[in-house]
Amino acid sequence: MSSNMSSSIYIIPNRKPLLDLPPPNPEIRPFHRSLPHYQPTPLVSLPSFAEELGISHFLLKDESSRLGLPAFKILGASWATAKAVSKRLNIPISSGDAELSLIERLGEAATTAGLTLYAATDGNHGRAVARMAGYLGIKAKIYVPLMVDQETIAKIESEGKHIEVIVWQGDYDQTVVSTKMAVTTHHDGKGLLISDMALDVEEETPKWVVDGYQTMFEEIDEQITAITEKRITHVLTPLGVGSLCSAACAHFGRSDGTGMVEIVTVEPVAAACFMSSVDAGKMVSVETGYTICTGMCCGTVSVTAWPVLKDCVSMAVAVEDTQVEQAMLDLRDLGVSAGPCGAATTAGARLLPTLGPNAVIVVLSTEGQRHYEMVDPKSKYVT
Ligand SMILES: Cc1ncc(COP(=O)(O)O)c(C=O)c1O
Repeated sequence: MSSNMSSSIYIIPNRKPLLDLPPPNPEIRPFHRSLPHYQPTPLVSLPSFAEELGISHFLLKDESSRLGLPAFKILGASWATAKAVSKRLNIPISSGDAELSLIERLGEAATTAGLTLYAATDGNHGRAVARMAGYLGIKAKIYVPLMVDQETIAKIESEGKHIEVIVWQGDYDQTVVSTKMAVTTHHDGKGLLISDMALDVEEETPKWVVDGYQTMFEEIDEQITAITEKRITHVLTPLGVGSLCSAACAHFGRSDGTGMVEIVTVEPVAAACFMSSVDAGKMVSVETGYTICTGMCCGTVSVTAWPVLKDCVSMAVAVEDTQVEQAMLDLRDLGVSAGPCGAATTAGARLLPTLGPNAVIVVLSTEGQRHYEMVDPKSKYVT
């Protein structure tokens, strides 16, 4: 791999096609359809951005309202929760003649068994797990790092009385480890960890989280035909621990086959763990600084995502908060609700080398507008 142009972009040569992927799971889309508020999120064409970048189409997948929450994360959290409860209590996912829905069947059994869901989060994943606990009628303990603001905590708590939020005195990586320990050590065996970040390759819920994201990409395939006959050339995905990106790789590696869709990651400069790993040629952790992209403020790539990402990603981009804020404001002027993680990919698109007039890029805008605080990047976040 080589550095290109500036320290904020890496062009990664030798992308390899992903050959050993299992086929997409046909149970996932019907499951999402069965949840309250399901509808495909919009794929919006933004010609002014296409013109600015000198490309054919700039398309934004707007996840500002997904299954009743303001971020995409519930796609993964919901499927992983269903799979985890189903496995723990030995309840089949599909049961053709059942009168009750899957959530109702899982909820009855989970309540009787007295299960509690656990999650580590910097916001969106935890709120999604809390929402799932509510649907199942069980408790959830949600661990957040010190950096998470009061408003985010309040939103998680707003999911109901069954939710306990625990503020961990450390960063996101430390919170992930502590939550895992909390489930495995001091406890009665009734805890179920719903993690979107694998610390070891045997962990199953992070893989189910990745599987759950497949719905977003299936929707894009269906929506693009109404916009253009041209094929997608680039997909820009925000990266925290890399689970969303690994789902993008799985989908576009699989559906394209020829390796023509370039996957581009966008991370905050303050937490560029994938770019640093690419630079090092192996997985490395970084010390995270402050960023308004809270959901992407992760110091380590998920161990199950790394092998996929290192072969499949074509470019890694790191963005400053000021660039993200500008993109957020520009999107707002066009009527698009994007929070910092949502706008990060648009900011990243502006840093790419010239792609040419045939490029069709899709940016994943993963959260809607929300409160954030700009902090001088030189003042390091102190735990
Ligand atoms: C809104 C938002 N966008 C992007 C991400 C990054 O996703 P991943 O951690 O799977 O890389 C997150 C993670 O929490 C998020 O909340």
